[in-house]
Amino acid sequence: MKITVVGAGAVGATCADNIARREIAEEVVLLDIKEGFAEGKAMDMMQTAALLGFNTKISGVTNDYSKTAGSSVVVITSGLPRKPGMTREELIGINAGIVKGVAQNILEYSPDAIIIVISNPMDTMTYLALKSLGIPKNRIIGMGGTLDSARFKYYLSVALNCNSNDLQGFVIGGHGDTTMIPLTRLATYQSLPVSDLLDKETLAKVAAETMVGGATLTGLLGTSAWYAPGAAGAVLVESIIRDEKRLFTCSVSLEGEYGQTDICLGVPVIISRKGWEKIIDYKLNEEEQAALNKSADAVRSMNKVLEEMKLI
Ligand code: LAC
Repeated sequence: MKITVVGAGAVGATCADNIARREIAEEVVLLDIKEGFAEGKAMDMMQTAALLGFNTKISGVTNDYSKTAGSSVVVITSGLPRKPGMTREELIGINAGIVKGVAQNILEYSPDAIIIVISNPMDTMTYLALKSLGIPKNRIIGMGGTLDSARFKYYLSVALNCNSNDLQGFVIGGHGDTTMIPLTRLATYQSLPVSDLLDKETLAKVAAETMVGGATLTGLLGTSAWYAPGAAGAVLVESIIRDEKRLFTCSVSLEGEYGQTDICLGVPVIISRKGWEKIIDYKLNEEEQAALNKSADAVRSMNKVLEEMKLI
């Protein structure tokens, strides 16, 4: 199997690196517009093969989409990352045109590819791919909730002083500082509701920290995070390639599910060889549904910019 990762920046390179180390596919193509950049990253990664013992072949190309031909999965990380103080939404003007062009080029050489969108604002970029590519909705997956849920578990693990692998927890809604919804009511520590283990204030603090998890890192690093975003992309690729049918929250096209239509928004989905296979209904309470509706409104108003830019 062949995977393409578009964008050899920190997120794309980390994603490619994780795919190779876990030997998720035989071949990874890293593509970037900057001359020689993807080639260099790929060569550096290939020089770890003899140290780490993996057999995946990573190659880098400068803007040559013919080298991506026949990819089963394509991860799009292209565009600018956030700077400190910037929202993900502020990136739309620059990133929308880039993402649309990339997605079209990809499809020309890999017409059956499943597309994973990481570029921000992620829900709007996923919607742009959905609207402009004309491929089945199940083949378009926005990564956001997978990352946000991992961050939620991290903050829960700190509050509970436990291993984050023993936690279950989902973040739904938009991938934005004010639009994501950590579902604290449904989070568990090996079947124990975390709401039985943490007081209300602590739980609210965990939710608040999760929501600004990306911004916290942007403040610390001077640019947006890459280890967890890249790993989130890689685990989605893994669930597709190995047909694992794992449950992640991803931004997908909703047609009435969770009371929403004509939008890509984060909800729990099964990820398999088909792309996203099925949406799982978590039966939200009134408060959670109201938060999701508000989140959808915010994402929808962002999506309108695509029309104003004449991209859809
Ligand atoms: C983040 C970016 C990748 O949340 O959206 O770190």
